[in-house]
Amino acid sequence: MHSGVESPKGVWWKPAEASERLWVIVAFVWCMVLFAMMPLWHLKGGQNPSGIRSKVDPADFEARTMQFVQDYQVGEENGFPVVAPPPGSHVYLIARMWQWYPVLRLEKDAEYTLHISSLDLNHGFSLFPINVNFQIVPGYDYGLTVTPTDVGDFRIICNEFCGVGHHLMLGKVEVVEPGAGGGNE
Ligand code: CUA
Repeated sequence: MHSGVESPKGVWWKPAEASERLWVIVAFVWCMVLFAMMPLWHLKGGQNPSGIRSKVDPADFEARTMQFVQDYQVGEENGFPVVAPPPGSHVYLIARMWQWYPVLRLEKDAEYTLHISSLDLNHGFSLFPINVNFQIVPGYDYGLTVTPTDVGDFRIICNEFCGVGHHLMLGKVEVVEPGAGGGNE
């Protein structure tokens, strides 16, 4: 039995052996490598969003989105407008409890500026099955320069818990062949 007043018997206070010192050095060097990778990866990793961010009043963002829908709507799906903006245009997507609005139809290989914002609280933009994730915060317009590279249907999933309907918060992006968007008809 050892207590605070009686020192334990043993060898733990002896100087570290050479092999232990070596592993401490190896661990320390590796810590420094990982530490250096944080700024390096930020600058060289190529994973940073090509975004612009600005403050926006949620009511203004909603008004811009409604105007966007009015300008480029081509159809309807499950009560949601399907919107096919022309290549090069500004695209608006609302996150709110508990939907992504509207459905977007984009053309492959065309560049768009995708603006996303929330009208109520924090949501998470996650594009399935591609691993793309963004925090969508109310009051901020998250503008991303995007160029779809694959044709197909993509789901937008909310990956930030936002209340009782969180698991129902599914959106959709359709990517179609160049010229097939229907936005110029
Ligand atoms: Cu929106 Cu979870």
